[in-house]
Amino acid sequence: MMEIEPFHVMEVVAAAQAREQAGERVFHLEVGQPSTGAPAAAIARLQEIGQTQTLGYTTSRGIPELPVAIAEHLRATNQLDVDPARIAVTQGASGAFVLALLAAFEPGARVGVTEPGYPCYRNMLRALHMEPVPISLDPENAFALEIDTLDAATPLDGLIVASPSNPTGTVLTPEELQTITEWCEANSVRFISDEIYHGLTYDDAETATATSMSDSAIVINSFSKYFSMTGWRMGWMVLPEALVTPVDRLAQNLVICPPTPSQHVALAALSCGAELDAHVDRYAANRAVLLEGLPRAGITNFAPADGAFYLWARTDHLAADSQHLSVEWLRDVGVAATPGIDFHPTDGHRWMRFSFSGSTDTMRGAVEALATWRMRQLAR
Ligand SMILES: Cc1ncc(COP(=O)(O)O)c(C=O)c1O
Repeated sequence: MMEIEPFHVMEVVAAAQAREQAGERVFHLEVGQPSTGAPAAAIARLQEIGQTQTLGYTTSRGIPELPVAIAEHLRATNQLDVDPARIAVTQGASGAFVLALLAAFEPGARVGVTEPGYPCYRNMLRALHMEPVPISLDPENAFALEIDTLDAATPLDGLIVASPSNPTGTVLTPEELQTITEWCEANSVRFISDEIYHGLTYDDAETATATSMSDSAIVINSFSKYFSMTGWRMGWMVLPEALVTPVDRLAQNLVICPPTPSQHVALAALSCGAELDAHVDRYAANRAVLLEGLPRAGITNFAPADGAFYLWARTDHLAADSQHLSVEWLRDVGVAATPGIDFHPTDGHRWMRFSFSGSTDTMRGAVEALATWRMRQLAR
């Protein structure tokens, strides 16, 4: 277990906090979480419930209304009819992943993960004595997931893909997702579709859910991103029927249930679309500020950024190692961004991830600060 890597972004977070405690300004573009809290009506609901209920354990499947309301949400967003019995409520997408991996695979299973990609997949797989198999995405090909690359990675027991993606923001078209689910079914590879950034897309990018394409796919989602509820630790997954009971038994033994107060807040948040959609408008404005402003800082090579709230940008013309560059930016102009090493162990030093989940003023301030840094760098 000593080989499990740290989540390096946390080092940037700690350095940014130290700078703030010293009274200096920081523009936070490092962490992938909304700067807003849970929707106001959902918090109000918790206050009401806290007066009348003990908020003790629930069954591992959660309060009965929640899977039903999630199924309704899937009907409204994806025109899908999902049996609520197939929906497991979990402690965030992270909790869903642990349950899904344990239920679907044996120790030693080979599971494909994209590079660049979300680092916790590979670290979780290793912690569970499974083998992450890197699937390289080519920047020259807009980070598309090619079937040839999947073929080259076989034999695989499973494949995890996030669309929209962290860190690149790329979105698979419905046709691309269909091709991947078909490939998985044809090759007996269990597909785990991470749909945590659904609801966060720009310029008319279209998302589709693997639930509509495959009965054997595990589809993971969360209240952390679109619903602006990271700390409440709530997520869900749509399971193939054969995995419903194994996941339930694992959840009973590993966590008992997701936090009960959070379940009530999540249930109420499902009816707060207007407030949440306003956040998405802000992310779209933030994205535009970065796309227009970062070129003044010499940063021009971006991944498509059609979804999620990240810009994945090439920075190796500014500094050979983005980890050093992020330290320099924070020290010199107070901009906190995430070096790519977390997301791609071998090529990440050439890249930086900017999160645009904060306020638009933060984005404007960061762009100005980085332009100043660039002028100073050119003058050196
Ligand atoms: C792609 C992806 N999957 C899963 C997670 C975990 O999210 P949570 O456990 O907060 O739902 C994250 C968090 O940033 C993520 O980016």
